[in-house]
Amino acid sequence: MLILGIETSCDETSVALVEDGRRILANVVASQVQLHARFGGVVPEIAARSHMQRLIPMIDDVLNTHGLVFDDIDALAVTLGPGLVGALLIGVETAKALAFARRKPLIPVHHIAGHLYSPFLYGNDSAYRLIVLETEDPQTEPLSRPRESVPTAMPRPAAGAPETVAPDLPLHFPYIGLVVSGGHTSLIRVHSPTQLEPIGETVDDAAGEAFDKVAKLLDLGYPGGPRVEICACGGNPAAFPLPRPMMHGGGYDFSFSGLKTASMKLIKDLGGADKVRSDEKLLADVCASFQEAVVEVLMKKAGTALKHSGTRELAVVGGVACNGRLRSAVADYLPGVRAVFPPPSLCTDNAAMIAGLAYHLRDHYPGCDLAMNASAGLPLSLLPA
Ligand code: KG4
Ligand code: ZN
Repeated sequence: MLILGIETSCDETSVALVEDGRRILANVVASQVQLHARFGGVVPEIAARSHMQRLIPMIDDVLNTHGLVFDDIDALAVTLGPGLVGALLIGVETAKALAFARRKPLIPVHHIAGHLYSPFLYGNDSAYRLIVLETEDPQTEPLSRPRESVPTAMPRPAAGAPETVAPDLPLHFPYIGLVVSGGHTSLIRVHSPTQLEPIGETVDDAAGEAFDKVAKLLDLGYPGGPRVEICACGGNPAAFPLPRPMMHGGGYDFSFSGLKTASMKLIKDLGGADKVRSDEKLLADVCASFQEAVVEVLMKKAGTALKHSGTRELAVVGGVACNGRLRSAVADYLPGVRAVFPPPSLCTDNAAMIAGLAYHLRDHYPGCDLAMNASAGLPLSLLPA
């Protein structure tokens, strides 16, 4: 079964083709990061306009590249929410129009449930394409990330296996999902792709938001997460004792706003952002200390959830899962835990996770419901069990 997925919840326009819920034939992502960079954050109107300009040509391109016509697609899938409502609307209304005109089922997908499903996808390298949309503004710096963070490769099937044979499932149900993105930080017990039991979430800022805000305090540019990671390289994570909010209390919930405030105070006490930035070692120490505080809280909370749930399997998903220190921290904080991190191309927003999960929802959505509407605050419980 071939599903065409559409994702437009924030600042990435993405179109994907996924076969039988796991094999990625195409996963094309048009990143708007440079369009928003000079504003220091996502501008919802610019995001929606760019989705509108890009989406239909990207769908055409994906089908043409694979020598397919619309009738070769069995169903469409689209992110219904949560996200920026204007951005979501472009995806949802486009998907509705196409599904109605072509008489295809339309499967709505929850964005976070999609992230949680991302470890199950596989495909070969050529399936992934990243298009960085250029701004007209010559003053905007190009995004630079460490090479290993550049999302260029899809997960490969086991060496020697024919590409059409799905690799073994990377996780056993139930496992713990840690969602760490720009808008969400949650712990979820995953009983099946469609049975998700949220057990904790942030009470204020998301982990990615904290990275972005500290990057802004230090004037490191946008998006902040990758830039803080780059600057933290070689720094001493114990240089400054930043707080670990709610690490030993608050159940499975998180809080990152106090850490942001403490970082702000630290930067001020050190003489301000310009002073810190002018001293490479000092900048590395501040970034590494902040990064370690976030990582330790995430790992310790995940550890408690694993222990109380009787599982040793963890999936870490969402944009912050690209972070190299978070990836290596499992061995330090959670010895004996088997943690699965999708490749960076599947950590950040993409339509493959939407098309993949839709396969497991197909029986609930045999038609195209024209009353379907984008929902900025879509709760996870809306997912049919
Ligand atoms: O999942 P995502 O692409 O979009 C949302 O659904 O929010 O996550 C984006 C977030 C941003 O806050 C970005 O700064 C953060 O992920 N991020 C990182 C890294 N790469 C992306 N945070 C820390 N280290 C990274 N390498
Ligand atoms: Zn996301």
